[in-house]
Amino acid sequence: MEAPQFRRLAESDRPRIRLAIDGRSCEALAGDTLLTALLTNGRRLRSSEFGDEPRAGFCLMGACQDCWVTLEDGTRLRACTTFVAEGMRIVTASAVNDER
Ligand code: FES
Repeated sequence: MEAPQFRRLAESDRPRIRLAIDGRSCEALAGDTLLTALLTNGRRLRSSEFGDEPRAGFCLMGACQDCWVTLEDGTRLRACTTFVAEGMRIVTASAVNDER
């Protein structure tokens, strides 16, 4: 696996949360946003809905809309403003790209 986009430097003593990213079991810390969880576990946040380019969020504060991800049940979440929860199952592929 390539090195993740983000590397945790502090606050690593918070409780651990288990989640799945594209079916792969991963770990985050309580209080992490989905964006933090995704980018400490991989290189990209999601696929672009307009092409094959990976996206990693832009503003990190809820303004740009670049960080929408989907749960396996179809719920769409803005990754930079949503906290992780135990058992979340995140899908990073774009539904638009899946239909191409
Ligand atoms: S990164 Fe801009 S809204 Fe989430």
